[in-house]
Amino acid sequence: MTTPVKTVLVVGGAGYIGSHMVWLLGQKGVDVVTLDNLSSGHRDAVLHGQFVHGDIADRLILDKVFREHKFDAVMHFASFIQVGESMQDPAKYYQNNVVNTLNLLNAMRTYGVDKFIFSSTAAIFGEPEYSPIDEAHPKRPINPYGWSKLMVEQALADYDRAYGLKSVCLRYFNAAGAHPDGLLGERHDPETHLIPLVLQAASARRPHITVFGRDYDTPDGTCIRDYIHILDLAEAHWLALQYLQSAGETTAFNLGNGNGYSVESVIQAAKRVTGKTITVQEGQRREGDPARLVANASKIKQQLGWQPAYADLDVIVEHAWQWEHNHASGCTGTK
Ligand SMILES: NC(=O)c1ccc[n+]([C@@H]2O[C@H](COP(=O)([O-])OP(=O)(O)OC[C@H]3O[C@@H](n4cnc5c(N)ncnc54)[C@H](O)[C@@H]3O)[C@@H](O)[C@H]2O)c1
Repeated sequence: MTTPVKTVLVVGGAGYIGSHMVWLLGQKGVDVVTLDNLSSGHRDAVLHGQFVHGDIADRLILDKVFREHKFDAVMHFASFIQVGESMQDPAKYYQNNVVNTLNLLNAMRTYGVDKFIFSSTAAIFGEPEYSPIDEAHPKRPINPYGWSKLMVEQALADYDRAYGLKSVCLRYFNAAGAHPDGLLGERHDPETHLIPLVLQAASARRPHITVFGRDYDTPDGTCIRDYIHILDLAEAHWLALQYLQSAGETTAFNLGNGNGYSVESVIQAAKRVTGKTITVQEGQRREGDPARLVANASKIKQQLGWQPAYADLDVIVEHAWQWEHNHASGCTGTK
C-alpha cells in the first residue's frame, strides 16, 4: 500500500502553474511549504500552507527549509520561462534553470529527500520531426531555454543512477486557462502566452493581438499549439507524486491535450466566449516558431491513468476570461 504524502516543498509555488498546484495539494490534504523569490510570482497567489520568501540560489535558505521540515517530495516550478529572452541572455537562463536547480537537488541529497517532480517543456524537442510528439521524439532544443531544461533532465537521470533520487519530468506543451472558480490565473509580466494576450485585447488592456504568420502549412495558415488546462496539469503532478510515492522509477511524460488548436481558432474561441471585438494585426513569422506543436500524451494516460477534464478550448478560454475579467477590473492583489 502507498504511504500517503504528508508534506511537499513546492518551489516556484507563487507562479502561474505552481500556485494552482499548491491549491490542489491543499484540497488533497497535503501540507505545503512554498519557496519562491517572487521574481515573477505573487505572494497572494499562494492560497495554502506556509510561504518562504527565498531563492534556491541561497544555500542558507535551503538548509533552513530542509532542516525545519521533513518533505516527502519536492515539486520544482521555479525557472525563467521566456524563450526569446533566453536567446538574448543565455547566462541568466543557465544560471537559474540549471545551476540553481542543481543547488536544490544537492540540498535534497543532503537532507535525504529522494522524490522530485520537474517542470520540463516541449521546447526540449526543438523542430518537430513528426506530430503528435511522443517521448521518443529526438531532443534537439533550438534555444537556451529548451537546453536548460534538457540539461536538468540529463542531470536527473544521472542523479538517479548515482544517488537513487527518483524523478518525474513533465514536459508541458502550452499551459492555459485558470482556476474554474476564478481564484487563480495567469499573471506574467511581460505576458508572452497567446490566450491571455488575446483576452487582454478583448478587454482593451492592449490595443490588438498580433498573428505571427498566416502562411504555415496548417488548415488556416496559422500555427497550431496544444493548450492544456492548468488544473489538468496540476492533476498530472498529483498522479506523478502518487507514482513516485509507490516506488515508481524515474521517467518523463509528455503532457498536452493531444488536440492542436490554431492561433486563429483561439481568436475565434475568444470572440465566442467574450462577445467582444478583438482587433487583429498581421505580423511576420517569428524565427523558431514551428507550424505545429502537439503532444502525444498516451504514455501518461496509460501509465498514470491521467485524462484531461477540461479538454475543450472554449472551456479553457472561458476560465481564462473569468480571470482576465476580474484582473482587468482590479480584483487581484499586487506582488
Ligand atoms: N507556462 C507554460 O506554458 C509552461 C510550458 C512549459 C513549461 N513550463 C515550466 O513550468 C514552470 C512554471 O511556469 P509558470 O508559467 O508557472 O512560470 P512563472 O514565472 O509564473 O512561475 C515561476 C515561479 O518561480 C519563481 N522563481 C523563479 N526563479 C526562482 C528562484 N531562483 N528561486 C525561487 N523562486 C524562483 C518565480 O517567482 C515564479 O513564482 C517553469 O519551470 C516553466 O519553465 C511552463
